[in-house]
Amino acid sequence: MTKPLVYVCRHIPECGLELLRRSADVRIHDGQLPPTRDELLAGVGGTDAILSLLSDRIDLEVLEAAGPNLKVISNFAVGYNNIDLRAASERGVRVGNTPDVLTDATADLAITLLFAVARKVREASAAVLDGSWRTWEPTGWQGLELAGKTLGIIGMGRIGSQVAQRLHHGWQMPVIYTARNDKSELAASSKAQRVDLEELLSRSDVISVHVPLTGGTRHLLGARELAQMRSHAILINTARGEVIDQDALIAALENRQIFGAGLDVCTPESLPTDSALLKLDNCLVLPHIGSATYPARNAMATRAAENVLAGIAGQPLPYEVFAS
Ligand code: NAP
Ligand code: GLV
Repeated sequence: MTKPLVYVCRHIPECGLELLRRSADVRIHDGQLPPTRDELLAGVGGTDAILSLLSDRIDLEVLEAAGPNLKVISNFAVGYNNIDLRAASERGVRVGNTPDVLTDATADLAITLLFAVARKVREASAAVLDGSWRTWEPTGWQGLELAGKTLGIIGMGRIGSQVAQRLHHGWQMPVIYTARNDKSELAASSKAQRVDLEELLSRSDVISVHVPLTGGTRHLLGARELAQMRSHAILINTARGEVIDQDALIAALENRQIFGAGLDVCTPESLPTDSALLKLDNCLVLPHIGSATYPARNAMATRAAENVLAGIAGQPLPYEVFAS
């Protein structure tokens, strides 16, 4: 009997591939870079499942290129803004993601960015590397202290609430947050108070962004919102680059309107090396490594494979997402 065929858009941790190979034939896109559009369209042809990455745009054209056997798209990520959910659902194709298992890793990275920006780690490390560090500096590389400062969370979901808990309990930070729907359960452990966006912008010493990228959150923070932030405030984004208007952020950082920014995500990814963002000494950019720990990536691979196998079997996915 022929086995179902799965297209995997890049090499993922072996535990996920092994799980797939037990019940399916696996066609993997080789190489460090995502498949080009042409490679993707050709690669998905005749498949029963696509295991995609956040760097792969899965839209109607891809669904059509896959053909009538396609039953499931399993994203190796919790975010799924790269997938046209409506087009998938109209064709009866289920979509899955990998929630929870990367929450701790991503929350930890948001905090890593926060302390690195507050303590000017980027500039201090650059001085060591370029030889401009000569001696102990009584007035050099002075940064901010965070204990007791107000934390503003935009997107009090799984990751946002973990960032809040860690900083509330570890650094005694009062927490405020914005939400569309009630989040009192997630907010309880950090005693967080719900406020509107205007109040959050003007009261927070630190703002950490954790909303998914949707039509409603694209450029949620633009020039107007950045202008409402405090002059010593730090902005952290581990969500998606497009949630912040990057040109407006560059201007705000250049003008020292805010203290600094720590970005695990930006627009585009990767960022050209001549980007103005990389010239700023008050901005630290990382290459989207929020979930890049061994346990998180292994667990994501397993979850993504479990979604594929359930979808191929015509069953609801263990981690299924739906068009809203
Ligand atoms: P989640 O649990 O769904 O949390 C997102 C929260 O944002 C939800 O509680 C949602 O609540 C809220 N939200 C949506 N729109 C909002 C708005 N306009 N204003 C305020 N809140 C809003 O998702 P998660 O697991 O925490 O992940 C969050 C995002 O982080 C992902 O979508 C992904 O883009 C990003 N991420 C990045 C990395 C990385 O490597 N840097 C790793 C993991 C995740 P309601 O829908 O009830 O409003
Ligand atoms: C990473 O950005 C994810 O959404 O999992």
